[in-house]
Amino acid sequence: ESSNSRKLKKVHADAAQLYHHILINTQIGEEALSYLHERGLNDDIINEFNLGYAPEKAILTAFFKERKVAGELLRKSGLFVEYSDGTMNDRFRNRVLFPIRDAQGSTIAFSGRLLHKDDKQPKYLNSPETELFNKRKVLFNFDKAKSEIRQKKFAILFEGFMDVLAAYRSGVKNGIASMGTSLTNEQIYLLERTTNELFLCYDGDEAGQNAIARALELLEPVTKLKLGVIRIPEKLDPDEYVQKYGETAFEQLISDAHETKIAFYMRHYQQNRNLANESDQLAYIADVMQKLAVIESPVEQDLYLNQLASRFSLEKDSLKLQLREYIGKFK
Ligand code: CTP
Ligand code: MN
Ligand code: MN
Ligand code: MN
Ligand code: MN
Repeated sequence: ESSNSRKLKKVHADAAQLYHHILINTQIGEEALSYLHERGLNDDIINEFNLGYAPEKAILTAFFKERKVAGELLRKSGLFVEYSDGTMNDRFRNRVLFPIRDAQGSTIAFSGRLLHKDDKQPKYLNSPETELFNKRKVLFNFDKAKSEIRQKKFAILFEGFMDVLAAYRSGVKNGIASMGTSLTNEQIYLLERTTNELFLCYDGDEAGQNAIARALELLEPVTKLKLGVIRIPEKLDPDEYVQKYGETAFEQLISDAHETKIAFYMRHYQQNRNLANESDQLAYIADVMQKLAVIESPVEQDLYLNQLASRFSLEKDSLKLQLREYIGKFK
């Protein structure tokens, strides 16, 4: 490890500690602390994840100057914005901060959430790419989750940081999130070394469900991971589900609501279709058959063929005949 990255990690550790102190112990942090409490995070989890608050008024610049940290190092940290006249200001202001840690547990970046909706600013703001932080390589919470992933033999991918925390406080500690993008090859590699099964647990709204379909299409050809879906009902996201129904109900949902890829597609392809109407039925069956065609296991294939046959009162033999054509085309 270069001495530069060691120093940058120290800068991040110090900044995280300061932001956390402000959140927990000071009056300027009070509103942010109540915000987090209202979102169901108690002090234990706030401490465990070292959540922080960056106040409206810049504080980091003076803090590091006092400690005689070199301006060059600060510039490289990503924790500041630099104006054209060369002066620097704190990048994160008036945001709740989620420290982003690498797989070994060192803080290497932050993501900051606005306390109040603001049309002029993004809800979440991440550190820029730095010597320490390459967002393609990082999975939020992987350092804490990895042993639990090994033990449970699967990982759960959430969309957001708050979802990971909501799961964690419900006792579901094998949850991770990417940095607001779809999984990269580097992140997949990290998971493949740890487990052989991954569940996608995205938001239950249409955007989240479409994102699952896209993620499955992207992942299928590049990973050996067995893929499944955990569906959150009522268009809620995992965090909203925990808020509404409680931690025990969520833990239960995670163990009960596993869906196979095909079951997900069979549900998803119904979206925006009226299955009372025959042309929609045919289009739906065609979409599902494309997915059935690439299934390796004949038993699994048979299971879904039976479902289709009974649902639409079709002869299973004609479905099988049709499937053979698709197998020629898509395999
Ligand atoms: N995201 C982002 N920038 C935004 C909105 C979202 O980077 N302006 C990323 C964040 O990582 C966020 C994830 O996309 O966690 C999912 O977005 P969304 O569902 O809108 O946010 P939530 O995680 O539900 O955030 P919250 O519950 O705090 O509103
Ligand atoms: Mn408290
Ligand atoms: Mn969303
Ligand atoms: Mn969400
Ligand atoms: Mn949310």
